[in-house]
Amino acid sequence: MSFFSQLIGTGSAFPEKVMTNADFESFVETSDEWIRTRTGIHTRHIADIRKGESTSSLAIAAAKKALEMAKLSGKDLDLIVVGTVTPDSVMPTTGNLLQAALGAERAFSFDLQAACSGFLYGLSIADQFIRTGAVQTALVIGAETLSTLINWQDRGTCVLFGDGAGAAILTRTSDPEHSILGTRLYSDGTKGDILKIPHGGAKVPHYLPEYRHKDHSIHMQGSEVFKLAVRNMIDASMAVLADHHLTPEDVDFFLFHQANVRILEMCMKTLKVPREKTWINLDRYGNTSAATLPVCLDEAWRQGAIKTGDRVLMATFGGGVTWASGLIRL
Ligand code: COA
Repeated sequence: MSFFSQLIGTGSAFPEKVMTNADFESFVETSDEWIRTRTGIHTRHIADIRKGESTSSLAIAAAKKALEMAKLSGKDLDLIVVGTVTPDSVMPTTGNLLQAALGAERAFSFDLQAACSGFLYGLSIADQFIRTGAVQTALVIGAETLSTLINWQDRGTCVLFGDGAGAAILTRTSDPEHSILGTRLYSDGTKGDILKIPHGGAKVPHYLPEYRHKDHSIHMQGSEVFKLAVRNMIDASMAVLADHHLTPEDVDFFLFHQANVRILEMCMKTLKVPREKTWINLDRYGNTSAATLPVCLDEAWRQGAIKTGDRVLMATFGGGVTWASGLIRL
């Protein structure tokens, strides 16, 4: 008997505090007008770490909503995968914090680092475990508090990112039609320098004299990232469609990583995606890295933009660099 993975629940969560473009004008040379027109971002949510908001608290809130939609409890989970580059701690993992908070006694859990591609990497891994029969039900999370890795003096990056979490529940089905049809995952370490966080890991830890706090933050060559993100998201989208002998016309809805509205527009133009067949929320949230796709999925599903039977294509690009695509039939 063949197994497949069916999507049965989604959820999302954001910190309370909203930061507007105008808020940046007091500490970097920028303007609401520049940020809106060059990125499409209007506001973003920023975690208040001192009040206990963190990657795990957002992930837990998103997971609870997804479990509620799926009519399951933590006890039903066999696997928890968390895509994040901002775990609360290296040990325990965010996955383990979730496992404890959700009472997911029988689940094994782990974090994976694939930057903005973390959710699709996690979805693909969970899908493989379900297809082998090893796992029945999995929770896949993309959750970030990138605000903790921002150089607030760098106007080229600080305006772009926000905090948030998205969650998805997959469960085993024998129906190949309504399932994750396929995923494509890619990496290219030779281009790692265009989007990186150089210090703060085990190579340059905080106690070495060469450690610089401003290097323990996001460093980005914006225009290089822009070009590669467009090209790779289009290529990955076409590749996963080709695997299934499909074209963009066969897709009901497209979800692209939310980094810059101009990147989205270029992907939409090349793939001939009309505005009504995609979800854009980066105006409200900015780039929430691994969280953008599950949040889009959650909002689009709950608000009826996607429905049972729809083919949904997702594509992403992330630092390091990584990129991925995924095709789901709801
Ligand atoms: N406010 C005002 N000016 C800004 C600014 C800001 N927040 N950020 C950059 N600028 C300035 C630059 O300093 C530069 O000034 P200069 O010409 O005097 O040197 C000018 O705007 C143009 O910079 P450039 O980098 O060419 O702008 P851009 O149109 O490419 O937009 C990004 C910059 C970062 C918005 C854009 O490159 C981008 O979105 N890249 C991809 C980001 C991304 O997707 N990251 C995550 C991937 S997962």
